[in-house]
Parts: sequence; structure tokens; C-alpha cells
Amino acid sequence: MKKDIRKDRKKEHIEYYLKSISRNKTLFEDVYIEHISLPELNLDEIDTRTRFLDKIVEYPIMINAITGGTEFSQEINRDLSKIAKRYNIPMAVGSQTIALKDKESQESFRIVRKVMGKEGIVIANLNANASLDEVKYAMDILDADGIQLHLNPAQELVMKEGDRDFRGVLDNIQNIVSNVEKPVIIKEVGFGISEKVAKLLYNVGVRYIDVSGIGGTNFIEIEDKRNDKMDFSDIYSWGIPTALSLIQCHRVSEDITLISSGGIRTSMDIIKSLCIGGDLVGISGEILKHLIEGGYDKANKYMRDLTYKIRVLMLLTGSKNIEELKKTPYKVKGDLKDLI
Ligand SMILES: Cc1cc2nc3c(=O)[nH]c(=O)nc-3n(C[C@H](O)[C@H](O)[C@H](O)COP(=O)(O)O)c2cc1C
Repeated sequence: MKKDIRKDRKKEHIEYYLKSISRNKTLFEDVYIEHISLPELNLDEIDTRTRFLDKIVEYPIMINAITGGTEFSQEINRDLSKIAKRYNIPMAVGSQTIALKDKESQESFRIVRKVMGKEGIVIANLNANASLDEVKYAMDILDADGIQLHLNPAQELVMKEGDRDFRGVLDNIQNIVSNVEKPVIIKEVGFGISEKVAKLLYNVGVRYIDVSGIGGTNFIEIEDKRNDKMDFSDIYSWGIPTALSLIQCHRVSEDITLISSGGIRTSMDIIKSLCIGGDLVGISGEILKHLIEGGYDKANKYMRDLTYKIRVLMLLTGSKNIEELKKTPYKVKGDLKDLI
């Protein structure tokens, strides 16, 4: 595919994400956590730190894969990485396929490592059908702490120019996981990972899964808007809600680090994610929206308020640290209860 088509597509993804209207449910609304009015804690002693990819991060949040490859993406990556550095949280770049062949585009990804410095956690990103050499190269570009490999059959099938053959991906993942020393995170892009898929991944050695369920960015809608040949609006609700996907993947093994993403917007989503099995959350669409609407300042205010409210809610669950938060009892109701 020509480089320019990829560049246009990157721009269109952002444009159509901002114009998208479908709103599926994450089902976090069906997770209930009890309020503790005698927490016996001081807000100042709430410790939000956690370990991720062998480094300590200040909050259990990462800025998830969004973009790279164009000048506009470079500006976005610069601002987002400033936020990641400021809050000491990890950041993943968008798909680096473009950077494998187009050297000029690499700067738009490298900027993230430049801003975040050696101590920051920077995560590379490619499609799960990438070769081992491509994976190593993408990681080298960023001096990455790990790589995300995305599974996106729903997105590809709605794309006019997308892939149609998804055979051999699991074997490819096994080969990469066995031959890359740093952590390999398998992620969806907004349609969720089922228990069945999580088991298949676990059995080939995957120990990091980003569920990326429905309830946030909807790539069937985004690609549908780019596709003038067919109308896919009747399948906008396809996929596994994020809360359900998280509970399903958590059942597979305690030995999987689970990233909760897909529709994470509020501190409540984050607290609930950790209570039901998540280790960290990933945010893409919501922070991008704040950034595009009001630049760095608005995105920074969003993150400042979010991190403050995480501490507030941790106190109100009686949790002094992330370990205690993860042990908080919860109940499920409604659709989520029916589905599990
Ligand atoms: C504009 C945009 C571009 C994205 N590009 C990528 C990508 O290149 N690679 C990838 O793995 N995920 C990509 N994603 C998916 C996100 O990483 C995430 O899995 C998904 O958007 C669900 O999270 P959200 O609801 O917080 O946006 C993109 C998301 C958005 C909004």
C-alpha cells in the first residue's frame, strides 16, 4: 500500500473518531462497589503507585495507542508524551507499520521517547501479523520497554483496503513472544478479548493482554465513514463490553497482567476496572478528545482531575494502596450479571 494512503488514513481515523456518534456500553455501570464512611485514612497517604513492565508508575493508567506517521501525529504524540511524563505513566504509540518503510515518519514516533526520557515507559505498536524482524525494528526505533501487537479483524473487514485473511496469527504471536525478551502485550482495538481467545493467547505464552472492549472508540463506525461502498451501521454494537471482557480474561489466569481499555473516561471506570481484575487502564479516545478540543492545557486538566479523583475514590473504598484496591469486594448486576 502506498505511504500516502496510510498517512491519509491516520488523519481520517482522528477526524472520524471525533465525529463518531455511536455509544455502546462498557457495562462498568453494572459494577457496584460499596461506600466506606469510616475509612480511617488520610488523603495524603493514598498511594496510587503500581509496577508495570518492571518500572514503577505513579498511577495505574497508560495513554494507549493512537497515532504516529504524520506531522499532525507528531504534535499529538509530543503533547501526549508530555502528559505521560508529567504524571509518570506509560504511553503506547500508534501503529508503526508506516515507520518500517518510511524513515522520515519515524520522528513522529521517536518524539515520545525524547520527551519521556530513559526512565519513561514507551510501548511500541504493530499489527499481530508483523514479522519478528519488524517487531524488533519497531522496538529499536523507540528503545521500547515492550510492544503491543493489535488484533483488529473487525476493523480490517470494514475497511475497503483492509485484510481479509486472518490465518496464522496465533502461530506468529507464539513466535514473537518466544523470541522477544521484552514484554509483548496483545491488544484489541475496541471489540474486546473473550475468555476463549485469552486462553489461546495464554497457551502460547502471552502474559499481557489489553482487552480493549466496546464502550469507547468504535472502529466499525470509523471505518464505515471511510467506506463509500457499503453501510455497516447495523453492526455498530458488535463486540464484547469492556467490563465483561475484563472479567472473562481474569478467569483465565492470575498470571496475566490485564489492561482495561475501551471506553475508559472517568475515575469510576478506573476504580471499577481494578476491582474486577484489571492491573492498569488504557485511555485513547477520551484524552485525544480533550487534546484536540483544548490543546495540552485541557488534556492536562483532564488528567489532573482524573488522578485526584482516583485518590478520592480509593479513600472512599478504604484502600490505602493499589493492592488493597484490587481486593475491594464488588457486586455485578443487570446485563453484566446476565452475561457472566
Ligand atoms: C484515533 C485512534 C487511532 C488509533 N490507532 C490505533 C493503532 O494504531 N494501534 C492500536 O493498537 N490501537 C489504535 N487505536 C485503538 C486504541 O488503542 C484503543 O484500543 C481503542 O481506541 C479503545 O480505547 P478508547 O475507547 O479509550 O479509545 C486507536 C484509537 C483511536 C481513537
